[in-house]
Amino acid sequence: MITPMAEVQPTPGPAANPRWGSPIAELIGVTKTYYKPDGSVLVEAVGRSGRGVDLTVPRGQYLAIMGASGSGKSTLMNMLGCLDRPTSGSYLLDGHDVSVMADTELSSYRGRKIGFVFQAFNLIPELTVLENVEVPLLYQGISRGERRARAMDKLELVGLADRTGHRPRELSGGQQQRTAIARALVTEPVILMADEPTGNLDSATGESILRVIEQLHASGMTIIMVTHDDRISERCERIFRLKDGLVESDRFVKVRGA
Ligand SMILES: Nc1ncnc2c1ncn2[C@@H]1O[C@H](COP(=O)(O)OP(=O)(O)OP(=O)(O)O)[C@@H](O)[C@H]1O
Ligand SMILES: [Mg+2]
Repeated sequence: MITPMAEVQPTPGPAANPRWGSPIAELIGVTKTYYKPDGSVLVEAVGRSGRGVDLTVPRGQYLAIMGASGSGKSTLMNMLGCLDRPTSGSYLLDGHDVSVMADTELSSYRGRKIGFVFQAFNLIPELTVLENVEVPLLYQGISRGERRARAMDKLELVGLADRTGHRPRELSGGQQQRTAIARALVTEPVILMADEPTGNLDSATGESILRVIEQLHASGMTIIMVTHDDRISERCERIFRLKDGLVESDRFVKVRGA
């Protein structure tokens, strides 16, 4: 029996959940292909030739990207986070087509719009907690005093105000991920993106990180999170599932407040 590849529901508009607003991130026919040095195709990591992936994320949505290992989750997330460019298709981020932006314009736009949290925390070991959180502001021409104040504000938000002078190696895994979340938030991004943010943490610590993310969502933040874990994705509002780089399903889990 041949199983239909995708049962994709159209993304509901704002009416589906009064908390969702206009589209903040819109992938249109996006593909990502890796090539061998001789120019032949190595991997079609997302989409296929002539069949790209569409994904519209409304403001305020809490979305999980799921799928087996190698299905293209990180590749898709890196394009959403402007860490990587699509091979084809376009990407509208907060109303601007980033697929046509030059590299310097793109990195500055990305810095203002997106906070990114990685599975492996990616903190700078030589810097203190406070300095790590200040890093994204260094590129924005903000005074030292203002940088300190804004970094402190986010460290208070994630419950780390008493660890500002520690180095990352002097923190627990959960504290390192909180620091990384504070760093992601310090530029006041419109979207928080997280690729397996609890993947390196035990379940109790992972739970505390999820609660931080859920609080941010409750305060109106758009969240896009890659996860392997059904228990985590069931707490999101929507599960976008990939299989071999294509959309397998797009499911709305729960509609809070609707
Ligand atoms: N830089 C690269 N060069 C070549 N192939 C790549 C590259 N990055 C990813 N791929 C391939 O693209 C496919 C999708 O990879 P991706 O990292 O997006 O998967 P994933 O769903 O995030 O998997 P995991 O759950 O293991 O993190 C895989 O087949 C992978 O081998
Ligand atoms: Mg991955």
